This record gives sequence, C-alpha cells and structure tokens, in this order.
Amino acid sequence: MMRLVKDKKDYVFEYKGIDDVIENVDTYSEVFNKFGLLCFRNAHLDDNGCLDVLSELSKNFAWTPFSKDFDNQRSSWKYTQNYDERIKTDPDFENGGSSESLINRWHLEGMAKIRTQHAAGWNMRHFRCDSGLGETGFINMLLLAEKLPPEMLDFLSRSRVIHYPTINRKITTGAEISRLFMQSVSNLEEQIWCQDGEIEVACHAHSPLESHPHSGNSVLRLCPCDEEWGVQHILLSVDSAPPSVEQSKFFEEIHRWLSSETLNTDNQWWHEWEEGDFVVPDLFVMLHSAKAGFQIGEREFDGFWCFPNGTPLVPDTFRRN
Ligand SMILES: [Fe+2]
Repeated sequence: MMRLVKDKKDYVFEYKGIDDVIENVDTYSEVFNKFGLLCFRNAHLDDNGCLDVLSELSKNFAWTPFSKDFDNQRSSWKYTQNYDERIKTDPDFENGGSSESLINRWHLEGMAKIRTQHAAGWNMRHFRCDSGLGETGFINMLLLAEKLPPEMLDFLSRSRVIHYPTINRKITTGAEISRLFMQSVSNLEEQIWCQDGEIEVACHAHSPLESHPHSGNSVLRLCPCDEEWGVQHILLSVDSAPPSVEQSKFFEEIHRWLSSETLNTDNQWWHEWEEGDFVVPDLFVMLHSAKAGFQIGEREFDGFWCFPNGTPLVPDTFRRN
C-alpha cells in the first residue's frame, strides 16, 4: 500500500556505495513502492554512478534508464536543469524570487507522450543555497485517486483525455497550436500531431485513471497545469462520444477539485535538498513542482529519465520532417 511521506526518515538514506544498493535493492525498492520516493543522501554521484543505481533499482520494475536503441549501455536520457534562464528573464524571479513561489508549477511528467516517464534519477550535484530554498514538491496521485468523490471517479472512468504538446513558444504561439489541436479534439482523434516550426509534436489520448504499472492500483493521471488559453488536459470523450455541455462543465468542476487538492498542504511533501542528494521519484504517481528563492548558479542537477522497458530512443512525441 502506498503512503504519504510524513518524515524525511521515510525515504532519505545515507549513501553507502553501490554494493549496499545491490545488497539491499529489495528494501530500497520497497521504500520506492511505499512512498513513491527514494533519496540517497551524500551520494555525490557522477553520471555512471547515477546509472548504476538506477539500473540496479530497475531490476525490480518495468522501467529502465536506457533506451532499447542504445548499443552503449552507458548512454541514457540525461538532461540538466538549473532555472538560470528563468531567473534571468522572468521578472517574477528577479534575484531568485520568493521562496514560496513556484519556479516550476505542479505537473505530471510527459502526459502528451504515448509512453510517459515512469521514474527519474535527479542528481543534485551543485546546491549552494539554503535547504529551505528551491525545494521540490510532491503530491501522490494514487492517494489523490482514493480521495476522488464517487461521481467524479465514475465520470473519469468513462472518459478519455488528451494533453497539449510541449511547444517551443519562440516558433509557434500557444493560440495557433490550440486552434488546430481543438479541431482534432472535436474529431475525437486519439493521436494528434501538431506542427511546431520545423518539427511535428504528437499527443496521445489516455484514460485519466490509469493502473499503476507495479501495484495495478488506480492513479489519477490528470495534470492541473493551465495556460493563458485554458487547462492543458482536455476532455476528449465520455463513453466514446463527444462530451455534452454538461459533461464539459463537470470536467471543469473536477479540475477545480484537483486544483484545490493541489493547494492542500496535507497532500504535499517538500523535499529539502542538500548537495549530493540522488532522488528517485515514481513519476507515474508523483505530481511535482519546484519552489524558487535561489539565485543564478546556486542550484543545478542532472536528471536521468526512466521510461518503460522497450521505449525507443526518440520517445514517439517528436518526428522530424
Ligand atoms: Fe517535471
């Protein structure tokens, strides 16, 4: 059974080396299953060290840090995140902004993809601000599914939803994408390709309640984020038919419920970072966000996505023309 993290002792462990991870992989996997979160403290891993830990853990799960297309098993889906550009260009985050404001809003990872990230390894290799700044927030969507009022649960179990693509705003405006996207939505297209400059970006419909790949329990897979043109997760159909006006209104009510539950601190856990932390979240269940308050150059981590086994090198959202 999954539980809410109540204390850092629930999921933060001193890193004792890869041999300890290998020896106690079942115990660490159990923590990941129970809380959807695992952290090795004072790990100070390099890239290979991160991949070693993820590879070991992945033996107990249906995900991997490596694409099936890579010959070299040391290659991975790696990215780097520091928010420096955001702090530099967004007036809301001038001098770091308030430690209570969100520099990365609440979201589920990759919801437009056909195969979404099931886990990640976040290697905080550079963290020079106070631990009370730049915290990462987590909300367990398996536990939130259990809180859904019965009529919402029933409605969502009969619905299909589809999430907007990730677009490069410098190339294509949201309004342009939105117009074409909504046209496809009204045609009940389960797969929608959107032109974004030179590339095409795909979105894939899915149920807003999906079975957890490990436990089989129902997870609320609905993203609360919105844009200037509205929410990003769109109701595609109910009982395989276009939604009525009333059904669309009820879906809006579900979004309002989700937004208020997202703000409910009883549902949240905030991870206070230390340099050298290696955090592994279950991204199938964890809605997440990040708080601001840090300055340029103070917080940088490398992330290693873990997709379901068999995910190709280009995880089917991007297709070059
Ligand atoms: Fe994210």
